[in-house]
Amino acid sequence: MKKDLISIRDLSGKEIRDLFSLTDKLKKDKSKFSDALSGKTLVLVFQKPSNRTRVSFEVGIYQLGGNSLYLAPHEISLGVRESIEDVAKTLARYVDGIVLRTYEHQNAIDMARFSDKPVINGLTDFLHPCQALADIYTIREKIKNFKGALMSYVGDGNNVCNSLLYACAKTGLNINLAAPKGYEANKRVLKEARAIAASHKSSIKIFKNPQEAVKGADVIYTDVWASMGQEAESRKRKKIFKNFQVNSKLVKLAKKKVLIMHCLPAHRGQEITDQVIDSKNSIVFDQAENRMHVQKALLIKLLGKK
Ligand code: CP
Ligand code: NVA
Repeated sequence: MKKDLISIRDLSGKEIRDLFSLTDKLKKDKSKFSDALSGKTLVLVFQKPSNRTRVSFEVGIYQLGGNSLYLAPHEISLGVRESIEDVAKTLARYVDGIVLRTYEHQNAIDMARFSDKPVINGLTDFLHPCQALADIYTIREKIKNFKGALMSYVGDGNNVCNSLLYACAKTGLNINLAAPKGYEANKRVLKEARAIAASHKSSIKIFKNPQEAVKGADVIYTDVWASMGQEAESRKRKKIFKNFQVNSKLVKLAKKKVLIMHCLPAHRGQEITDQVIDSKNSIVFDQAENRMHVQKALLIKLLGKK
């Protein structure tokens, strides 16, 4: 049966560990996998802009011997020109896998339901699983025995935050969250992630202010205050989130060697200062690079020979 990646919730701890082991191999010896997906085609159906996700998937499949096809928003006009069901059924006749970047999360669920070929969630308003997998992989590279380490997420309880909650819970990282009232992580995700975290004896704690949340942190993570699709709220959000900026003063409250993470793109001077994102503690470009390595492993797992 085909497998999709719509949410990290659907992956077992073992699947994540196996994915990371394969990623290690891919990073070590690129040439060994140069025909792992030869003859395979991946289509990227994107309704929002992208740098990292698009380029890492396109270059990634190319390095595995396959090829890719990018369909910009106006080309497919998902649900407008034709239904998601018809798009999914048609694309599945041509390609071996679909990466979808869209607004409503239900679109990703529907695409996976109607496609006979694996569907990968390349970001929805609700989740960004590829990002969070690459993030945990990056932490695993930087912190030996990262189980039990503390990530403090400061800012909007958005798609990245929701996926990090699942990812931390599944891999045994503790996570502290600090978001303005009304902008917290999704309640259902919190409930589910808490249940998963309990079985790993890890914790999920909510704080009102970022200063409390970052105390003792091994990792501070932040993301934009206004995500793609929320541009009209940008001014309002700047006011609401102004005390949630990751700046040098805040970073000083965490561990000395705290890792600074951001999925990018960053709005420098808003959620994070130049000084922090450009500091020696910042690993934002390692995260960006690892998007490709982890996704290559994912593509082999989902599109490769079973
Ligand atoms: N982090 C991330 O998904 O970046 P893009 O929006 O540029 O793909
Ligand atoms: N939360 C951001 C993540 C971008 C990678 C957004 O959805 O725009």
